[in-house]
Amino acid sequence: MHGSHILSTGSAVPEICINNDLISTVIDTSDKWISTRTGIRERKIIDANQSIIDLATLASNQALQKGILKPKDLDLILFATSTPNDLFGSASQLQHKLGAHNAAAFDITAACSGFVIALIVAHQFIQTGIYNNILIVGADTLSQWVDWSDRTTCILFGDGAGAAILQKSLKNDILSFEINTDGTESHQLSINYKYRSNQYTNNHNNLPSRIPSKSQYEYLTMNGKEVYKFAVSQVPNSINNCLRKIHLPTTDITWLLLHQANQRILEAVANKLKIPTNQVISNIQFYGNTSAASIPIALDEAFKTGHICNQDTIAIAGFGAGLTWGSILIKWNALE
Ligand code: ACO
Repeated sequence: MHGSHILSTGSAVPEICINNDLISTVIDTSDKWISTRTGIRERKIIDANQSIIDLATLASNQALQKGILKPKDLDLILFATSTPNDLFGSASQLQHKLGAHNAAAFDITAACSGFVIALIVAHQFIQTGIYNNILIVGADTLSQWVDWSDRTTCILFGDGAGAAILQKSLKNDILSFEINTDGTESHQLSINYKYRSNQYTNNHNNLPSRIPSKSQYEYLTMNGKEVYKFAVSQVPNSINNCLRKIHLPTTDITWLLLHQANQRILEAVANKLKIPTNQVISNIQFYGNTSAASIPIALDEAFKTGHICNQDTIAIAGFGAGLTWGSILIKWNALE
């Protein structure tokens, strides 16, 4: 088995900033409610001239430059997103925009767990010796899928993209991992398909009756309380399982990096694991919940700002719609 090495990272967020005071002029909420319940103070959202592919390209190019790789060196691109430009998948648009002509590319749809799952999938391709250089991108633009009149959801989300390059290596940075799914609870958080009957085909009896007219999706819906309880109960178990597999005590964790959903969730999980809050990476106040992008953005920033150093052990966990959740323990060795 070959080892996987995280070579470099990158991240990008849009310029438009909507702070809590601004959002309070549109819906019945306040900076106090949002910041005390979630830790969020502002979020960045794309405008009509920018797409998820633009953000993903910026983040990917940063990772390529830092890793001293050219786009043609990439063998595979895994694009973790639940808000693609194209329902058939957006990874090929990213491949084209990067000029990564030698790379196979496909999407991974797993909401806020997407980046962790994509990292684990990439690790399999490296371990089996199939590929040498894999670009993993987590990006989402949920601002386009929330109902901006629904104060229970629109205050939570922001847009962004983060990237990492995983490279075949003699040493292995991926120490342990686990992925879980509970489909019985999928209704707790979803963006459902919206069926609309098609007058044209309905008038032709020789065609099936349920061919829809122009397809649409509902707005994002979430049972916040249930998702909160799920995250706080399942994420510590998942991280403990990863630690147990390699006989590592919790005290060996240098940093806890969770999907940035809610500051209270980060603190409750850290508390359950007995990890001090000064070892919890958090940037939620600036970006809100950027779904698949939140972990790679936080990873990139924590390294850039000198918080994460080489030889640190990082426990990473994603959780969200599906319901899905996954954890991965890594040893940090990225390029300085
Ligand atoms: N401003 C002011 N008041 C509000 C707002 C708001 N934006 N939103 C809700 N309220 C009100 C409610 O109407 C309710 O009022 P009531 O008591 O009169 O009925 C009161 O505040 C309390 O609402 P709760 O829903 O009980 O608030 P809670 O403390 O549970 O916080 C929150 C809600 C922030 C959504 C929390 O439940 C949470 O973070 N859940 C987890 C979300 C998450 O982690 N998602 C991750 C996955 S995302 C993905 O996969 C795409």
